[in-house]
Amino acid sequence: MMNITSSSSDFYLVEGGKRLKGSVRVSGSKNASLPIIFATLLTSESCTVQEAPNLLDVRNALSLLEYLGAESYRVGENLYIKAERLKSHETPHHIVRKMRASILSMGPLLVRFGEAVVAMPGGCSIGLRPVDQHIKLFERAGARVSIKHGYIYLKADKLKPIEFDFDLVTVTGTENALLLLSAVEGRSILRNVAIEPEVLDLIEVLRKMGAEIELWDRTIEIRGTPNLTGFSHRVIPDRIEAGTFMVASLITGGDIVLENIRLEHLGSVCGKLEECGGVIEKIGSNRVRVYRKGAYIHPTNIQTQEYPGFPTDMQAQFMSLLSLANGVSEITENIFENRFQHVAELSRMGADIKIHGRTAVVRGVEKISGAEVFSTDLRASAGLVLAGLVAEGRTTIRDIYHLDRGYEFIDKKLRKLGASIERLTEHED
Ligand code: EPZ
Repeated sequence: MMNITSSSSDFYLVEGGKRLKGSVRVSGSKNASLPIIFATLLTSESCTVQEAPNLLDVRNALSLLEYLGAESYRVGENLYIKAERLKSHETPHHIVRKMRASILSMGPLLVRFGEAVVAMPGGCSIGLRPVDQHIKLFERAGARVSIKHGYIYLKADKLKPIEFDFDLVTVTGTENALLLLSAVEGRSILRNVAIEPEVLDLIEVLRKMGAEIELWDRTIEIRGTPNLTGFSHRVIPDRIEAGTFMVASLITGGDIVLENIRLEHLGSVCGKLEECGGVIEKIGSNRVRVYRKGAYIHPTNIQTQEYPGFPTDMQAQFMSLLSLANGVSEITENIFENRFQHVAELSRMGADIKIHGRTAVVRGVEKISGAEVFSTDLRASAGLVLAGLVAEGRTTIRDIYHLDRGYEFIDKKLRKLGASIERLTEHED
C-alpha cells in the first residue's frame, strides 16, 4: 500500500488547458467513514469497514482509536477494527486539533467508561464551528458536563433515553446523538436532525449492530441496546469527490465517466451542473457520463443549504466553474460564516468576484491565468485545483495537506483523465 506522506512543503504544479477524458472511480465517503469508524468503539466485537478511503482524516481517526486502545489494520480498501480492550477515555487536543470529527468519540467513550474527556475542537478557517448542540444533547441524556482548560469533561452514572429537538441542523451533532443513544436502553426521539447520506449510512451500521432506528421527515426514533455487536459495512461513495470531478469535466470542456457513484445523493448538484450547461447521463447502475453541452458555461445562482439542498462542500468548486461563465452568478453561503477564502486566491488568477456579506457575486471572465495560490481549507483547495486545470499557463497550489484530508490520490485520478498535474516537494536549499 502506498504510504502517503503529507508534508506541509508539498505543492501541486498544474498546467492548464487539457480537456479531461476517460473514466475514474470515486472513492468511499470520508464523511461516512469517520462516524462509522467511531461506531466501532461501541462494541468489543470485530468490525469491517469496506471501501474506507485512505485519507489523512481516516488515518487520524484510526490513530485516535489506537491511542484509546483499539486495534485496527487496513488490507487494501478494507479496515478491520476491534475495540475490545480500551485503555483510555480521553481524546487529547493534539489529535482533535488535526481532526474535529474526533468529537464523535464522546458518546462511545461515555458509554464504555461512564466518563469521557474530549478536547474542544477549536474553530477552523471556515468558521467558529461551536459544539453547543452536542453538549446540550449529552446533558439531556444524563451526563454531567463541564468545560475547562479547553476540554469537555463528561460523567454519567446512568444514561437515559431522551426526546431532543436540535436548535439547528448539525451533521456531526446528529451523528453524536445516534452513536450515544444507540447504546442506551429505551426509546429516544430526535427532531430537526441532519439527513445527509453520510448520516443515513451511519444509521445503516447502527442497525446492523442491533439498534432499532426509524427515520421520517427530520425525526429519528431510536431503541438502543447496551449489547451492540460487530458489523461489516461498505461505505457509500463520496458524493463530494464525485461532484468535484463532475465540475472538473465541465470546467475543462471534457467528457468523463465516473464509476461507483450514487446519483440520488447528488440531486441538487446535478441540477446546478445542468443549469451551467452540463449533461449527466446514467450509463450503468453506478456509472455516469458527464460532459458540457456547448461551448459555454452558463451562469446560475446558488444557495448552500442542509441536505437535500445544495451542499456547502461543493460551493468552492462551483465558484471556480462560475468564474468562467458567460454571465453573472450569485453564490450565497448559508452554512458557514467564513467559507469564501478561495475568492482571494481565484481573484489573483483573474476571476472577478465581489463579496457582499454571505453572497459572492461572480462576474464570469473569458479566461483566468495560472498563478501561485494557497489552499486554506479542504474544499477551497479543490476549487483551486479546478481553476488550475483551465487557467492559462502554470498554477502552483501550496499547502495541499488540506487536500490530503479529503481526496484520495486526486492528482493520480486527474492525471488518468489527462490533466497535467504533479505533486512536488519544496526542498530547503
Ligand atoms: C459536517 O461538519 C461535515 N464534516 C462538513 O464537511 C460539512 O461541511 C458540514 O457537516 C455541513 O454539511 C463531517 O461530516 C466530518 P454542522 P459539521 O455541525 O458536522 C453550526 C468537509 O469538507 N453548529 O452540520 O461540523 C456550525 O457552526 C467538511 O468534509 C452550531 O452552531 O457541520 C455550522 O455553521 C467541512 N452548533 C452549522 O451549524 C453546533 O453544536 C452546520 O454545522 C453544531 C453546529
